[in-house]
Amino acid sequence: MWVYIEKISEYVEKEVTIKGWLYNIRSAGKLMFPILRDGTGMIQGVVSKKDVTEKVWESFGKLTQESSVIVTGKVSKHPKKENVYELQISDMEIVSISEPYPITPKEHGIDFLADKRHLWIRSPRQAAILRVRNEIIQSIREYMYNNGFILFDTPIFTPNACEGTSTLFSTDYFDLGKAYLSQSGQLYAESGAMALGKVYTLGPTFRAENSMTRRHITEFWMMEPEMAYFDLDDDMNMIEDFLEYVVQRVIKNKRAELEILERDVTKLEKVKKPFPRITYNEAVEILRQKDVPLIKKTANGEEQIRPFPWGEDFGAPHEEAIVENYDKPVMVHRWPAHAKAFYMKRDPENPDIALGVDVLAPEGFGEIIGGSQREDNLDYLLERIKEHELPESEFQWYLDLRRYGSVPHSGFGLGIERLVSWICNLEHIREAIPYARRPNRIRP
Ligand code: 4AD
Ligand code: MG
Repeated sequence: MWVYIEKISEYVEKEVTIKGWLYNIRSAGKLMFPILRDGTGMIQGVVSKKDVTEKVWESFGKLTQESSVIVTGKVSKHPKKENVYELQISDMEIVSISEPYPITPKEHGIDFLADKRHLWIRSPRQAAILRVRNEIIQSIREYMYNNGFILFDTPIFTPNACEGTSTLFSTDYFDLGKAYLSQSGQLYAESGAMALGKVYTLGPTFRAENSMTRRHITEFWMMEPEMAYFDLDDDMNMIEDFLEYVVQRVIKNKRAELEILERDVTKLEKVKKPFPRITYNEAVEILRQKDVPLIKKTANGEEQIRPFPWGEDFGAPHEEAIVENYDKPVMVHRWPAHAKAFYMKRDPENPDIALGVDVLAPEGFGEIIGGSQREDNLDYLLERIKEHELPESEFQWYLDLRRYGSVPHSGFGLGIERLVSWICNLEHIREAIPYARRPNRIRP
């Protein structure tokens, strides 16, 4: 019977067939120890010369790394290790002998691996990350479904910007001029919230940002809920409930993968609500106390500005310093309005402040979520659109949401690859998605 390695524990002392690839093989006299993978896991096989035909024994001798094989044998428990199984091999059929495989168990440079991404994803570490990513997305969908959110798929071709005009990818769109690849589905999700109450969109988003950091890609997946009648506090309540659910479910269901990744799961176990909430002003106070300067690029290098000036956005060193004293995600709310997007509602108590929230992941993983209460007043929103020099005509449909039964509403955007990076403890975001797109990489 054909079974997958992830289910092998259900077949102890039974004969099974595994269809997969040879990861590695070691021989010792009249024994050979192939390690097989089938996409769901790995298992060590034992081939004993006396137990197989001459033909099978010789076939094993011919196998190269990544040759595809169909192997039959009896499942046994590892004599010493808990939850480890072996396959006492009785038969094997070669499907295809692999040419010399470029990725060997030795260390390779990162550019080499990125060039070979189509093969690199077969390695145990990359496959584990992609399985965790799948679990994360499944958990998100389940949370949203169980909490009454309607999936509202938003378009990728759009006629206008959502998150500032400097990071738009454009393409020709028949006789209608330019189309832009969506930076965020939010504006459309807002229309969905007015129609359906609570919605979310989950799909690829695009930013033409020429930044080569460990946290930026040009094509990333974002999950964006939008809720009618939610204010900023309701938004933050949902964020912590949602994040706790996703993180706790992933560490429960993906222990083995997180172990392959050497993830310290005890750190993730602490991700339970309530999360700390601090204002932007309090965050700036922390930076000043820790003497973290703002670093400005100048013509002749860098300039350090102390104390950290009010009104500036945070970079990686600031985010790290802010979360250092916490072991949970930190919600930084109430931002300088001029630093944030046009759609954010102003704080009724202070027009210089926008009712936005950024969620900073612990352990220095930086911003994983950006959200806000939205401006629901037609006149104020028109003013913002003018201030940001956005084309008013393209926003008429969006302004209609304020003309016809406007209500307070809020939402946020979660970067899937940022969340994967944090949960998997990745040095670099390029490992968090099957094919990372960066300013200098579009292949393979
Ligand atoms: O903070 P951002 O720009 O917010 C929005 O796009 C809002 N419209 C969301 C909303 O309220 N519906 O982006 C949201 C998140 C960030 O916190 C980050 O996790 C991720 O998207 N993100 C990126 N991830 C990878 N590479 C990039 N270049 C990213 N830019 C943003
Ligand atoms: Mg942001």
